[in-house]
Amino acid sequence: MSRISLAGAAFALALAAQFGFAPQAAMAQQAPKPGELTEAAFTAQTCALCHGTPSQTPPTMPLIYGSNADQLYTTLLDLKANRRPSTIMGRIARGFTDDQLKAVADYLARY
Ligand code: HEC
Repeated sequence: MSRISLAGAAFALALAAQFGFAPQAAMAQQAPKPGELTEAAFTAQTCALCHGTPSQTPPTMPLIYGSNADQLYTTLLDLKANRRPSTIMGRIARGFTDDQLKAVADYLARY
């Protein structure tokens, strides 16, 4: 297990503890109950660690909120496949299935 995924796991656990959800429950692929943290919302919180929030994106970071969902998804696939050059983002994208990237793109586009 790489250092990045260890850090990711620790962060996910910290988030789960903060929000009172077990990671398994948050990652489950079931229809969300009202107020439940969906997998896409959970994933988006890991993105916020670097990209900031919709109202507070660090000036050095690309804005990922509120863009076109299809365009965001295509960009993530390009990063994943190394068609779009990156330092870290390609590796992060490769940690997700295409379906997970689609779900998080749809979620982020709603901002
Ligand atoms: C470890 C920090 C980090 C995390 C976590 C992270 N990103 Fe990124 N992201 C970056 C950096 C840095 C870039 C700029 C490209 C590069 O050098 O990797 C980037 C670039 C991007 C881009 C390309 C934007 C553009 O217009 O070129 C998208 C889209 C993106 N990130 C989405 C996400 C999503 C979705 C998540 C959560 C699944 C996420 N990022 C998590 C650091 C991060």
